[in-house]
Amino acid sequence: MSRKRVAVLISGRGSNMAALIEAAKAKDYPAQITLVVSNKPDAGGLVTARTAGIATEVVDHARYGKDRAGFERALQAALEKHRIEIVCLAGFMRLLTPWFVGQWQNRLLNIHPALLPAFKGLDTHKRALEAGIKMHGATVHFVVPEMDSGPIIAQGAVAVQPDDTEEKLAARVLGVEHRIYPLALKLLAEGQIRVENGHCLIDGVPVPDAAELTPSDLP
Ligand code: GRF
Repeated sequence: MSRKRVAVLISGRGSNMAALIEAAKAKDYPAQITLVVSNKPDAGGLVTARTAGIATEVVDHARYGKDRAGFERALQAALEKHRIEIVCLAGFMRLLTPWFVGQWQNRLLNIHPALLPAFKGLDTHKRALEAGIKMHGATVHFVVPEMDSGPIIAQGAVAVQPDDTEEKLAARVLGVEHRIYPLALKLLAEGQIRVENGHCLIDGVPVPDAAELTPSDLP
């Protein structure tokens, strides 16, 4: 089996990146984390990646000022240098242009801390609590030019508790993120995902629903 070469793009602590690195240690996992790229030189996840023996690159967006195209060309060059086949955004806090997204059609994943299409954008846990919803969660989806909007690959849900704070809810959702991201990457790397009419089909059937993917042993 030839394992797909994956880059993880981060901006911060990189706990989802770490979950992907951990999952990829399994001999039968169909992808290897070949490269970690950060747009911030001080991202904590860079240390984690280096400790795990993974190549890292910093493409500092601040050095490019308003030149978004230049930033993305540098990003693309780093990915090409490492012969990357799949890109996973994991807490990567830059919006990507249609040009970059187009380079990676159906090979570019993102994880979002909400059950999309609800709560696109930032501060999802705060807004979820304000809205009084009973179920919250996380989504892995293909990236399209419109933010947080591509075909959904996997979702995991958690029940919102009456005494939840933003931090408590975020921690439980993060636990779900760390499970569904490795699952989604595995499905993609195995070639099991087909996109039809903007929906992901896995092995010809829709993806399992959230309840099936929700770990029963979450706190
Ligand atoms: C995660 O909640 C992810 O869903 C969101 O940003 C956060 C990144 O956390 N896009 P980490 O860097 O993976 O720990």
